[in-house]
Amino acid sequence: MSNTRRPLIVGNWKMNGLRAEAASLAGALAEKMKEQGATTFDMLLCPPATIIDAVGKAIAESGLSLGGQDCHANQTGAHTGDISASMLADLNCGYGIVGHSERRTDHDESDAVVKAKAEAALAAGLVAIVCVGETEEQRDAGNTMGVVAGQIAGSLPESASASNLVVAYEPVWAIGTGRTPVSAEVQEVHAMIRQKISELIGESDAAQVRLLYGGSVKPRNANELMSLADVDGALVGGACLNPDDFWAIAQSCP
Ligand code: 13P
Repeated sequence: MSNTRRPLIVGNWKMNGLRAEAASLAGALAEKMKEQGATTFDMLLCPPATIIDAVGKAIAESGLSLGGQDCHANQTGAHTGDISASMLADLNCGYGIVGHSERRTDHDESDAVVKAKAEAALAAGLVAIVCVGETEEQRDAGNTMGVVAGQIAGSLPESASASNLVVAYEPVWAIGTGRTPVSAEVQEVHAMIRQKISELIGESDAAQVRLLYGGSVKPRNANELMSLADVDGALVGGACLNPDDFWAIAQSCP
């Protein structure tokens, strides 16, 4: 973590949460934020689209931010069941996750699709959180760096800058498994990602882009992960559904 990049802790609720959780989980975090007053980190909640509005009401005036888990590449049109970035912005979302590995796998999203979604997010005024990460098979074949570099080259929006882009490195094999890469590997991949971003948007902007690690981030490993030079926060799945665990992860930010 650096002195110049403000840490960002993101809770990706995935397909979890009915209206009751909007009040209980988001409300509990809003209370913690208010009690703490000034924080050393930004905290973002990305609930399912059905309860974004309810979560927004539960976190009003708390300093917590709101985001979507996905968006369509178009802002309107005949796309049954999809949600656009401008719809997320209309619900007071400031961020949109795109290219999560579960989207890439479950919905066959290519780098080009992810890039188009990221462009749509920026066009709607959202910060795009672009996710990348290798599978276990790719890792075992020694291709982690090549795979992630290719995803960065193919998925980042043309108009990216430090203020509208966040990149999350989530090794697919670490998601929901309790396994994580060793710290040196995480730092090595993050440093490479920053270098690749710098080739695309220039060194000074790249130096300010926040890079999140995701994949089995828990209170027990957050301190070590957040201490790495090029890790500027976390993208948390399972542990974000428990407000005490999610809060403990945020407290690990120096
Ligand atoms: P877990 O924290 O459950 O491993 O999920 C990580 C993730 O996919 C966040 O987007």
